[in-house]
Amino acid sequence: MRVAVAGAGGRLGTALVAGLSGADFVDEVLAWDLPDHDLDDAGSAMRLVGRDRPNVVIHAAAWTDVDGCARDPGLAMRRNGTAAGEMAQACALNGTAMIALSTNEVFDGLRTDGRPYAATDLPSPANAYGAAKLAGEQLAREAFRATDNDFAAAALMAPGTRPTATPPLAIVRTAWLFGRPGADFPAKILAAAERSRAENRTLDLVSDEFGCPTYATDLAAAIARLVELAGRKGWNVVGGIHHVVNGGHASRAEWAREVLRLAGVSVPTRDMPMSKWPRPSTPPLWGVLEPTPLPGGGLRHWQAALAEYATIQASEQEPSR
Ligand SMILES: NC(=O)c1ccc[n+]([C@@H]2O[C@H](COP(=O)([O-])OP(=O)(O)OC[C@H]3O[C@@H](n4cnc5c(N)ncnc54)[C@H](OP(=O)(O)O)[C@@H]3O)[C@@H](O)[C@H]2O)c1
Repeated sequence: MRVAVAGAGGRLGTALVAGLSGADFVDEVLAWDLPDHDLDDAGSAMRLVGRDRPNVVIHAAAWTDVDGCARDPGLAMRRNGTAAGEMAQACALNGTAMIALSTNEVFDGLRTDGRPYAATDLPSPANAYGAAKLAGEQLAREAFRATDNDFAAAALMAPGTRPTATPPLAIVRTAWLFGRPGADFPAKILAAAERSRAENRTLDLVSDEFGCPTYATDLAAAIARLVELAGRKGWNVVGGIHHVVNGGHASRAEWAREVLRLAGVSVPTRDMPMSKWPRPSTPPLWGVLEPTPLPGGGLRHWQAALAEYATIQASEQEPSR
């Protein structure tokens, strides 16, 4: 199987390229990124799919600066909505399957009953990033002619009982990714703790925003399992909407404290509501996703994944002998 990864240099893209490169069901990994793949160029997806003819495209390219998206909703829609639709059209026309990455921010997070958002819940984004990502989902479904009957419920149905008409499209919603490269939330918290200690200040942490911290390496492995299963059993087994996150959930403050604990950093902290931290975007307060069943089982708990990530980071920072 020839697998193309769009957004190959990003957090998830890096993990996907690394994970897929050694997989026995993959003949070739095509790493697409700027300048060849440009979300601002309407013809870019069609050119790449036509040139490389992959069997499947994993569309992980996106403008993930949520505050930037709030400041420029038009550009957010171009990059995260329209461009995802163009990739889907290119795939559908060339007989290429697509896995489109989406987000927990398609939900407004105003739910107060404590239940996580399921793949069957109706999305209702509260910010420009979420609205654009939802538009990307919808445009991808239109390109593949994926109707509610043959698509949305597919991820929730047992193998063998799914509609045989499911098109070769999977939408994978995830949340709160951590991993390399770039400054992820753990890196930002450690840097903020360092500044607080240097300035003898308390570190303020947001305690009323909840989500599912998710290790990019684990998400990439789950996506690889979907690709492998689709290759073996067909897209009617894996097409549809998937919620793929590490197990459990946490507030930003709980996540931050776990980062500090694992790094052995001791600094006084104080909980505060998100409303005390004005920012252009409005993140969902309750952004918790209910994981959908995955081949090979669900992802491990986020604390176990974070502990592994912290161990890897620490070993790389040890001075070489
Ligand atoms: N990060 C999260 O917490 C999170 C949460 C939920 C869902 N998601 C979704 O998961 C997917 C992967 O996210 P991620 O965290 O891996 O994102 P990321 O680290 O920001 O990587 C995004 C990728 O898209 C590329 N890109 C950005 N602007 C582009 C443009 N104008 N044209 C072409 N490529 C462009 C980036 O290229 P450069 O590196 O060259 O800029 C990078 O390779 C995205 O669909 C995102 O919406 C992410």
